[in-house]
Amino acid sequence: MDIFRTKSVEQSIDDSESSEHRLSRSLSAWDLTIFGVGVIIGTGIFVLTGLAAKEHAGPAVAISFVFAGVVCGLAALCYAELASTVPVAGSAYTFAYATLGEIVAWIIGWDLLLELALGGAVVSVGWSQYFASLLDTIGWHLPTSIDGGDDAFMNLPALLIVVILTVVLAVGIKLSARVNSVIVTIKVAVVLFVIAAGLFFIKAANYHPFVPPSQPAPETSGLQQTLLAVLTGHEPSNFGILGIFTAAAIVFFAFIGFDVVATAAEETKKPQRDVPRGIIGSLIICTVLYVAVSLVVTGMQKYSDLDPDAPLAEAFKSVGANWAATIITIGALAGLTTVVMILMLGQSRVLFAMSRDNLLPKGFAKVHPTFKTPYRITITVGVVVAILAAFIPLDALAELVNIGTLFAFVVVSIGVIVLRRTRPDLERPFRVPWVPVLPILSVLACLYLMLNLPVETWLRFLVWMVIGFAIYFLYGRRHSRVDDYDEQHGGRVDHRHRTADDA
Ligand code: ALA
Repeated sequence: MDIFRTKSVEQSIDDSESSEHRLSRSLSAWDLTIFGVGVIIGTGIFVLTGLAAKEHAGPAVAISFVFAGVVCGLAALCYAELASTVPVAGSAYTFAYATLGEIVAWIIGWDLLLELALGGAVVSVGWSQYFASLLDTIGWHLPTSIDGGDDAFMNLPALLIVVILTVVLAVGIKLSARVNSVIVTIKVAVVLFVIAAGLFFIKAANYHPFVPPSQPAPETSGLQQTLLAVLTGHEPSNFGILGIFTAAAIVFFAFIGFDVVATAAEETKKPQRDVPRGIIGSLIICTVLYVAVSLVVTGMQKYSDLDPDAPLAEAFKSVGANWAATIITIGALAGLTTVVMILMLGQSRVLFAMSRDNLLPKGFAKVHPTFKTPYRITITVGVVVAILAAFIPLDALAELVNIGTLFAFVVVSIGVIVLRRTRPDLERPFRVPWVPVLPILSVLACLYLMLNLPVETWLRFLVWMVIGFAIYFLYGRRHSRVDDYDEQHGGRVDHRHRTADDA
């Protein structure tokens, strides 16, 4: 069946070298690591730590971070192998096209909208909350109709930050990298500050109990229970060992972004070597910082007293260090800025790869003659993210970002096993150890985290996927250009990696 046709690795690489669709190669391993840290550290650590500790795990949220970090580490190895073998923009989408076939590629591209565009909008709303709180500190109050609060007509700050970042992204990857490196320096300095200054305020008593005993959660409605609880028939509960895993599924959000490094493969000078370094390096740095921050914060304040909106700043206020809270607010604001920017960057590169393949209208993929960026797509992504952030209440949708990302991780992990079988001949500058064991563990671990998400998130996810399939059959399937390439390069396509149905 043609829906399972694959796109050869050679074709993907050829496409990235055609002049009309060529991006400029200017990034190094260091730039990529900074990119990674820029997109990873954000709402997850500055906001969700509090919620996850207060409602689900207590001080053991540090274990939740370790668990989520290990799951991401497994997936990161798989991303690193595929990114080094197929160093082309598009990340999971491109990898799926080379391994599992067009329909899976399309659905992953569609799914990545949840991670990248929706994720960007969710984080820009978090940005506006920190922005309002910073203005409050200096005595300025935004009119409630535009401050992004519950009754606001529109979230003007979120809209503005998205517009500014869209302009930066359209003007060039090198400018984006420079803006990013300045902001990342501030963000990492603030995180280190939280760890170092917080150490002085830790009280051992706050760590008892480290794993609070499981408690029933009677107020949880059917749809808000985790799918795992529904499948196993458990009464909804918080804390205890299971709470650590529920919290892990929430703080997973904090790790989202290392995979975005792979979308910049085509703009990297030596992608085969540097993309794996960027992915794994940024993930290790962030995991260490997260575990340290969560231990410090739950040591400073009793988990039950943590603030679910601004836990880091409030923990310092609770010990009388208000000055420190202001520093943290500035760091969070800076930090969230780069998260939004790079999620949008990743989104535009995935859509770029999809339109280059004609699964979306091709004119979209045009690269700007001077800036060398896919400016049409960048602007479209900016407009969509701005509208989502400004007008749609996104609280309920944040967990869709997690499920969308985990699903992409599952597909990429399977992709590693498939490509090893279908194209053992390809050069793999980075190889996952113990294939297929490690990718299988990655799939299982991601599925386990997905099961720890609420039933309503699963339902929304399924609806999104059904819409995606419908669009593929109405548009992408008819326009795909993989077959044109096969005809022009007769014999060039390696039929070993076509599926049995195709052959
Ligand atoms: N990892 C990013 C954050 O925590 C998405 O905001």
